[in-house]
Amino acid sequence: MPDTTADSILNFSAGPAILPRSVLEQARADILDLDHTGIGVMEHSHRGAAFTKVIDEARADCRKLGGIPDDFEILFLQGGASTMFALIPMNMLPQGRTADYIHTGAWTKKAVEDARIIGDVHLSWDGTECGFNRVPGDDELRPSEDPCYTYYCSNNTIYGTMTPHPPRSSGGLVCDMSSEMFSRPIDWSRHDLVYAGAQKNLGPAGVTLVIIRKSLLEQARRDLPAMFRFELQAEKGSCLNTPPTFGIHVMGLVFKWILEQGGLESMQARNLEKAGVIYEAIDESDFYSGHSDDSCRSTMNITFTCPDPELDAAFLKTAQEHGMMNLKGHRSIGGLRASTYNAFPAEGCRRLADLMRSFASANG
Ligand SMILES: Cc1ncc(COP(=O)(O)O)c(C=O)c1O
Repeated sequence: MPDTTADSILNFSAGPAILPRSVLEQARADILDLDHTGIGVMEHSHRGAAFTKVIDEARADCRKLGGIPDDFEILFLQGGASTMFALIPMNMLPQGRTADYIHTGAWTKKAVEDARIIGDVHLSWDGTECGFNRVPGDDELRPSEDPCYTYYCSNNTIYGTMTPHPPRSSGGLVCDMSSEMFSRPIDWSRHDLVYAGAQKNLGPAGVTLVIIRKSLLEQARRDLPAMFRFELQAEKGSCLNTPPTFGIHVMGLVFKWILEQGGLESMQARNLEKAGVIYEAIDESDFYSGHSDDSCRSTMNITFTCPDPELDAAFLKTAQEHGMMNLKGHRSIGGLRASTYNAFPAEGCRRLADLMRSFASANG
């Protein structure tokens, strides 16, 4: 049986998105009875032994999977990725300092807007004019004099662009990896804070994975309300209040699943191959146009259009008739988007590419 949610439906959703079938089956069993305790995972106290084992194991598997060095802390927070737009500057942008933001799309725009409420923000690159169809090379960045951190988004879910390498930075490097977390290895020597909302590659909505260098925690502001303090969340093992216990459990199961698949390098190879099949169908035709520049095409979100919006709509309808769901592009850029996260099957990418070819020859 394929490791997907349903055999016949292919879910190309950008998020919440497809999860591995085996993870969902384990989660279903654990909802009723976690680890032979006779109590379901959602019914256990977050202070009890059963959940403590869940969160400890999730943390340990996360560290193992990500190759995360000991000088980083792993946090499971709430509020989604968007809450991090505020928490990062609240914790890390002191008065009198500047934070640099590399502006590559709608999610960095929101991050910039929130950071500006807290302190001084400098855009070291702005992709507005090119319609966010690419990310900058290091030589295009115009950093401020002494930024306390540089912020970027490594995978721009809406536009289908992906940063091939961490950008040059001074100060700490902060990354929103929401739509590609654990789709490929992460260079920890280059990053200081990495975070991701769970609902694309990691589990159900409601948990945000935050991985932060311990030295940053020591410098983080302490004059904030308790729930907003990174350093306090770390001290309390992400259990300052009741954490999203079910979400953390499922995330832990996803970490185990990726480890079983061979870890991040093998995930990366599979993702490149999967996306490659669809990009090939775009590249070989005069019918489809990709949104992203070739230099930075995402392996997670593949964005393209037919020659006109009517044909986009017709393609969507045909795809649905073939069980291919959620291929509509984000409302801000239109067109089509195929999200092919870790759990998305290679066979699904082949089926989409075949459909693209037959649709183009019937309508071209
Ligand atoms: C790259 C990126 N950052 C942030 C977000 C916002 O996530 P959330 O809804 O968890 O706040 C999204 C959601 O799609 C995203 O794709």
